[in-house]
Amino acid sequence: MSNRGHFASKFGVLMATVGSAVGLGNIWRFPYQVGNGGGGAFLLVYILAVVLIGIPAILAEFIVGRESHANVVGAFQKIRPGSNWKWVGYLGILTGFVIDCYYCVVTGWTLYYLYASLKTGFLGQTPEAYSQMFSTFSSSVWPPIICLIVIIIVTGLIVSNEIKEGIERASKIMMPILFILLIVLSVNSLLLPGATEGMRYLFIPDFTKLDLSTILSAVGQAFFSMSLGMGCLITYSSYFKEDVNLPRTATQIASIDLLVALLSGVIIFPAVFSFNLEPSQGAGLVFIVLPNVFSQIQFGMIWSILFYILLFIAALTSFLSISEVVVAYITESFNISRKWATVIACSIFAFVGSVCSLSFGPLSDYQLGSMNLFDVMDFSATNLMLPAGGLLTSIFVGWIIDKKIILRQLNLDTTNRQHIIILKVFTFFLKYIIPATIFVIMITGLL
Ligand code: PHE
Repeated sequence: MSNRGHFASKFGVLMATVGSAVGLGNIWRFPYQVGNGGGGAFLLVYILAVVLIGIPAILAEFIVGRESHANVVGAFQKIRPGSNWKWVGYLGILTGFVIDCYYCVVTGWTLYYLYASLKTGFLGQTPEAYSQMFSTFSSSVWPPIICLIVIIIVTGLIVSNEIKEGIERASKIMMPILFILLIVLSVNSLLLPGATEGMRYLFIPDFTKLDLSTILSAVGQAFFSMSLGMGCLITYSSYFKEDVNLPRTATQIASIDLLVALLSGVIIFPAVFSFNLEPSQGAGLVFIVLPNVFSQIQFGMIWSILFYILLFIAALTSFLSISEVVVAYITESFNISRKWATVIACSIFAFVGSVCSLSFGPLSDYQLGSMNLFDVMDFSATNLMLPAGGLLTSIFVGWIIDKKIILRQLNLDTTNRQHIIILKVFTFFLKYIIPATIFVIMITGLL
């Protein structure tokens, strides 16, 4: 254990966990889920899910991670040796695998859009041409596959290095710059003609649009966006030192993550309405809307290059964090070097990722319901596996582990009345509110 890495500074801890949380989930997935879910009502449920389920669930993962200082399977095993709880860890690793295999596809799209903005910029084309560009690219065979393989190689190189140098360095520099750029772009979108309609769509709930499957998607999105439910935060917090304040870090992550998603919504929806596009066009939404934005804005080429570099890095830091779960597990459980563990994991990502990418093109006829392979993987990971992982982790921390662990990790003192109240509220959420809500939403949302 003593040879496990540590995050060097508290800022590094925050930036690395924010780096994991903020990614395609906020900028690509959130807007298209809002678009599919009908706008403001989805947003409202999403915010409730972040506050009421997300923050306590982040804390639950932090407690398990820092208490055990182990990978996601080892963590459950260490706290409850010999029990079946380790299966929650295995579920997390499986979820990580599934997400990584399609996350690299979308990260690849980002890389391609960076290439396109470097080559010609997005200038003077019609909205239809940008839609066409996306469908031609995403349904082709080699360009998306080449992009995803490049990404997997870059990730592999970073992951196989020691934790501190790799992940921390990348996140610390890039995340703040991304944030500033998002603010600039959202101001730009707000100045577009017809922007208010987009803002109304995003912020004014229309409850007639809300049904049970939309609620399930909003909860799933909250899990996905905050990197919850698959042990990613368990793995990261296993590298935290004792002086990291867990409740504060959890609240900061949830707030920053929500803010970035909102900014992304403020960039996308005014533009959707201003350019007469369709909000519910699915996974391509952001890739179709943004080129229109860049084609209108002054110095669009420079903005687009900067934006895609940063989006690419945001995606990469999230991709890294998922891969870290898988690699940490393979390394520590099979006792092989980090380098070999990375090679094994990355080869699988590259293979399954390529098949997944082809499901937009040559393999698009293989459908389940109306979902291609990509959608099936995304749906099952986000709406089923992550919430299930979150539910089980909450039960684990709420019901199973020794209260002393919670007290120690949250730095609570039983002689302090305020602390006792905090502990009671927290465990009430973990024991009842989170499991019951997720269970009911999953069952009803699937029917
Ligand atoms: N939270 C990341 C994003 O928003 C994705 C992710 C999911 C990362 C699950 C880790 C675990 O892009």
